[in-house]
Formats: sequence, C-alpha cells, structure tokens
Amino acid sequence: MRGPGKFIIAGGIVLLAVGAILFTAYGRAKTPEQPIKFSHKIHAGEFKIACEYCHSYARRSTVAGVPAVERCMGCHKVTAMDKPEVKKLLEYWNRKEPIPWVKVFDQPDFVHFSHAPHVLKGIACQNCHGPVETMERVREAVTLNMERCVTCHMQRKASIDCWTCHK
Ligand code: HEC
Ligand code: HEC
Ligand code: HEC
Ligand code: HEC
Ligand code: HEC
Repeated sequence: MRGPGKFIIAGGIVLLAVGAILFTAYGRAKTPEQPIKFSHKIHAGEFKIACEYCHSYARRSTVAGVPAVERCMGCHKVTAMDKPEVKKLLEYWNRKEPIPWVKVFDQPDFVHFSHAPHVLKGIACQNCHGPVETMERVREAVTLNMERCVTCHMQRKASIDCWTCHK
C-alpha cells in the first residue's frame, strides 16, 4: 500500500485508541444514583441558580456543603409540585428527614482540603468539578489527585509543602 493509505489507516488506529481511552476514562468516572433525581442542568444550567445559593459554605468553610431540604422548599412549595421526583422531595420535607445524598467527590482522610482559600482566590468551581451545570446527574468529571493539586499549586505559587495537604 502507498503512503496516503497508510496514513489513513494509522490515523484510524490512533483515533480508535484515543476513543477507547476516553471511553474508559468517562465510563469509570464515578456517578452514583441519588435518592432524588436532582438535575444541575435544570437548576444551575437552564434556571441559572448560582452554585453558592445552594452550596453556601464554600466561601467560608472547609466544606461547600449540600443544601438542606428547607432550601429546596423555598421554591418547591410552589414549583413543579406535580412532578414525581418533586413529590419525593415533599415526602422528605413532611417527614422532617434529611435527604441521604451520596457523595461524589471524596478525598481520603489523610488529605486536608478546604474550599474557602480556593473560592476566595476566584478559582471557579468547574476547575475542580467540571461543567456541573450541564449534568443531569453529577459525575466525577475531574480526578482530583495529588498531581492535579500540586501542579496548580506550583503554577499559582501556593504552598507545595507536604504538610499543607497532609496532616
Ligand atoms: C430557586 C428555585 C429552586 C430551588 C431552590 C430548587 N429548585 Fe428544583 N426546580 C426549580 C425549577 C424552576 C424547576 C423546573 C420546573 C419545571 O420544569 O416546571 C425545578 C425542578 C425540579 C425537579 C423536577 C425535575 C423534573 O423535570 O422532573 C426536581 C426533582 C427538583 N427541582 C428538585 C430540587 C431539589 C432537591 C432542590 C434542593 C436541593 C431544589 N429542587 C431546589 C427551582 C428550584
Ligand atoms: C438548587 C440547588 C443547587 C444548585 C444551584 C447547585 N447545586 Fe450542586 N448540588 C446540589 C445538591 C442537592 C447536591 C447533592 C445531590 C447531587 O449530587 O446531585 C449537589 C451536589 C453537587 C456536587 C457533588 C458533591 C459531592 O457529593 O461530591 C458538586 C461538585 C456540585 N453540586 C457543584 C455545583 C456547582 C459547581 C454548581 C453551580 C454550577 C452547583 N452545584 C449548583 C444542589 C445544588
Ligand atoms: C481547588 C479545587 C476545588 C474548587 C475550586 C472547588 N471544589 Fe468542591 N471539592 C473539592 C474537593 C477536593 C472536594 C472533596 C473534599 C473532601 O472529600 O474532603 C470537594 C467537595 C465538594 C462538595 C461535596 C460536599 C463537601 O463540601 O465536601 C461540593 C458540594 C462541592 N465541592 C461544591 C463546590 C462548589 C459549589 C464550588 C465553587 C463555589 C467548589 N466546590 C469549588 C475541590 C474543589
Ligand atoms: C486550580 C488551582 C488549584 C487546585 C487544583 C488546587 N489548589 Fe489548593 N490552593 C490554590 C491556591 C492559589 C491557594 C492559595 C490560596 C491563598 O493564598 O490564600 C491554595 C491553597 C490551598 C490550601 C491552603 C494553604 C494554606 O496555606 O492555608 C490547601 C490546604 C490546599 N490548597 C489544598 C489543596 C488540595 C488538597 C488540592 C487538590 C485536591 C488543591 N489544593 C487543589 C490553588 C489550587
Ligand atoms: C497540594 C496538595 C498536596 C501536596 C502539597 C502534597 N500532596 Fe500528597 N496527596 C494529595 C492528594 C489530594 C492525595 C490523594 C489523592 C491521590 O492519591 O493522588 C495525596 C496522596 C498522597 C500519598 C498517597 C499516595 C497513594 O498512592 O495512595 C502520599 C504517600 C503522599 N500524598 C505524599 C506526599 C508527600 C511526601 C508530599 C510532599 C512532598 C505531598 N504528598 C504533598 C495532595 C497533596
């Protein structure tokens, strides 16, 4: 076979390989089923509700926090009450029970992380969590491993002392 044909075949193989890698990476990204089908795409995407309206501790605490049922009820006492997933929400509210959301991003105990210093420096949530506002169901689109933390700390001249992140 002559030159161009070889190129096309080689190109095809490279594309397949890249596809396979992307597929496994995407396929492995953690995306647990939640007790209520809460969609960031609807709330943060279509209706443009600010991330910090619901994750209100991010700016002042180690955790970003997940909103209490009360925060949801601010709207859902009047909004979309006929939808089956909203009915589930109303049941939690009536039973005065918290919703047992399943964690998606989770660091091992030996890692010390805090949201506040990052949010105060203007680092976007999406930098660490991916385009959450496009997701029907949150998935771990970004792997927050040590390499990723340290690379940014070096670029932004933040501390890379082991004890910054390991206590
Ligand atoms: C600021 C207002 C607001 C808040 C706060 C809010 N929602 Fe919603 N929610 C909406 C709107 C608007 C819709 C879309 C309604 C529609 O499509 O008719 C919606 C839709 C939904 C739906 C239905 C999706 C579907 O199409 O089946 C669910 C479930 C839901 N919200 C859950 C929640 C939960 C859980 C919380 C709290 C964590 C919450 N919402 C907080 C405004 C809000
Ligand atoms: C209306 C309230 C609401 C808004 C607005 C909202 N979130 Fe959420 N978020 C939730 C709820 C409820 C959960 C827990 C259920 C889930 O994972 O979907 C959650 C979960 C998450 C998680 C996964 C947490 C974990 O368990 O590791 C991340 C990351 C996140 N949100 C980021 C964002 C970002 C970024 C934005 C803005 C683009 C945003 N959220 C806007 C309510 C909200
Ligand atoms: C520099 C990276 C980084 C940025 C920026 C960041 N997060 Fe996080 N986020 C993390 C890490 C790491 C965890 C897991 C923490 C753990 O397990 O101890 C996490 C956990 C969460 C959780 C799970 C509950 C919790 O508080 O642990 C939510 C919700 C969340 N982030 C939302 C947000 C939102 C909203 C923003 C923007 C206002 C944001 N994050 C900005 C890295 C980041
Ligand atoms: C996108 C860039 C970026 C990423 C990713 C990032 N950081 Fe940071 N981090 C910063 C910056 C910038 C600061 C300095 C904030 C300041 O000076 O107030 C900081 C500060 C910190 C601090 C506070 C240090 C102190 O001296 O108080 C801790 C702890 C920390 N980061 C841990 C982590 C961990 C753990 C991860 C990964 C899970 C991570 N960071 C990922 C940019 C980042
Ligand atoms: C900016 C934050 C940050 C700094 C600085 C940092 N680490 Fe880490 N480290 C992490 C995070 C996040 C993890 C957990 C995720 C992972 O395993 O990549 C981790 C994991 C580890 C692990 C476990 C690896 C494994 O495979 O389970 C060891 C060992 C470690 N770090 C040692 C160090 C040492 C030694 C230093 C100093 C030279 C250091 N770290 C500096 C964030 C950091």
